[in-house]
Amino acid sequence: MILKEKGISKAVISRLPRYYRYLGDLLDSGVERISSGELSERMKVTASQIRQDLNNFGGFGQQGYGYNARVLREEIGKILGLDKVHPMIIIGAGHLGQALGNYGFDKNGFKVVGAFDINPDLAGMKIRDVSVQMLDELPEFLDQHVVEIATLTIPKEAAVEVAQILVRNGIHAIWNFAHTDLNLLLPEDVVVENVHLSESLMRLSYNLTNIVGAEADRKKKIGAEKR
Ligand code: NAI
Repeated sequence: MILKEKGISKAVISRLPRYYRYLGDLLDSGVERISSGELSERMKVTASQIRQDLNNFGGFGQQGYGYNARVLREEIGKILGLDKVHPMIIIGAGHLGQALGNYGFDKNGFKVVGAFDINPDLAGMKIRDVSVQMLDELPEFLDQHVVEIATLTIPKEAAVEVAQILVRNGIHAIWNFAHTDLNLLLPEDVVVENVHLSESLMRLSYNLTNIVGAEADRKKKIGAEKR
């Protein structure tokens, strides 16, 4: 499905992973059918937003029946490309690279097939069933294996250069954890998802700071500790 042709907004697309996750949780707990009202209550999104969002894709609900959670999840999965396996590599096998590799995103179709680093001490180290290789082996690896996504868990100073090597060797999707926004620097046919966990923490900090009484509470506690 070509999103531009369908005219589906980025905002809708950005909400789909959340629908997908909630529907998975519902199915795990044995719920097969759900109304937009019930889904709205669980997800804290208005029922009309849910109906509007899902109507973009032909509306999977039936009047008076609600949504078939399994069919809806499958369809959203197809839209998100989760009905296919996406072979993935990790560049930077340090703390974060190992954590991501060990987590196992396989259940959603993201299969780690290689890991690369420049630190010779890490050569041959296993992340699940993948051995860490040296970065200079990357071009040959990409020539011989199908890889769709590269995860970058390296310092920001190295990110642009490594991203360029990846792009030269046919990678079109980068999951970027390095602290630089790579999409501004790469060709248009390369998609980048920049992940900044600290931004999420900053949003939490904003909400904490703006919850009435939170700051007063904190001061009271600090005062009590000092006494
Ligand atoms: P780390 O130091 O444990 O791992 C970094 C690894 O990258 C090392 O093994 C190093 O040898 C390797 N490396 C350095 N240059 C390389 C290159 N040119 N090619 C391949 N490998 C290379 O650091 P950690 O904690 O795993 O963090 C990795 C990066 O992710 C850091 O830049 C950190 O700032 C960033 N980070 C980003 C977060 C986010 O939310 N975006 C959260 C946590 C860390």
